[in-house]
Amino acid sequence: MATEPAEYAWNLDFAYERLDPTFRAKKLTAHGELVITPTMRRLAASMPSFLDENVAVAVSGPVGSGKSTLMHALAAVSDVNTAIVDIVGNTPSDKAVWGAISRSVIGHNQGTAEQLRLAVAEHLTVVPTLLLVDEAQFIPRAAMMQLRWLWDQPFERFAIVLAGSGLYEVLERDDDVDTRIDERIPLRHLTPDKMRELIVAHHRWARATHPWVLDQIDAIHCHGSWRAWSKVLRKLARVNHEGPITVPVAERALSSVKGHPVTLPTPPPDLANWHPPT
Ligand SMILES: Nc1ncnc2c1ncn2[C@@H]1O[C@H](COP(=O)(O)OP(=O)(O)OP(=O)(O)O)[C@@H](O)[C@H]1O
Ligand SMILES: [Mg+2]
Repeated sequence: MATEPAEYAWNLDFAYERLDPTFRAKKLTAHGELVITPTMRRLAASMPSFLDENVAVAVSGPVGSGKSTLMHALAAVSDVNTAIVDIVGNTPSDKAVWGAISRSVIGHNQGTAEQLRLAVAEHLTVVPTLLLVDEAQFIPRAAMMQLRWLWDQPFERFAIVLAGSGLYEVLERDDDVDTRIDERIPLRHLTPDKMRELIVAHHRWARATHPWVLDQIDAIHCHGSWRAWSKVLRKLARVNHEGPITVPVAERALSSVKGHPVTLPTPPPDLANWHPPT
């Protein structure tokens, strides 16, 4: 008898509460919400069919644009066995790549690269799996070809998501791999308007802050980067900040992150009497 899909399955509204607690504690800003973008929603909604069709997805975007957060959000709402692999080092050996993959997929990394690759493949023939490989731009060509071999196997239910900064440039070096990528999700640093909209959705201090101040922080330091915003908000949390980010608070935080004194330009006249929309 077919079982009903879990309530949370591929529904990113459940992602925050189901996130890996270590990722949530260490990577998300304290009191910050996980912001679900339309791109994230589209990808999650496609995952059931991607698993049926053994689809390979490549997520590429600049440093700090939210790739790892996207992977963790997907993992949080996955209803199949989900392995997150973090490739470490910038030219790992085959053994290091397969060791990392097999540790995540089958729970150990004992054996040669070849033995591990076959053991992973055997496991995937019986266990529906979503394989999320982060920092995939570091995977050397030979290991990438072996990985491609893996996702070419006719598993019953399997999908792979590769993520990395500059990943498309790396994949383009090899037609054999590049032509086997089925879906591409490009992430970018956000425009000032988009960043303001998302940061307001992300954090209550931002919601209470005059948009002009948010724009200044973005223009002077963050430049549409999630990572840079998360650092500024963490800095404020560390000094026990609460409430709206005023001009002096912004100047102090920016001076501290930039390492030199920062003075904001003359604020607009309505700044003192501004109240956040209710
Ligand atoms: N959708 C989001 N909602 C809330 N916060 C986010 C979101 N995306 C990113 N962030 C914040 O920005 C930080 C940086 O994002 P993340 O680590 O996902 O970027 P990345 O693209 O993986 O960077 P790198 O290329 O360095 O690996 C996260 O630790 C988190 O605090
Ligand atoms: Mg990352």
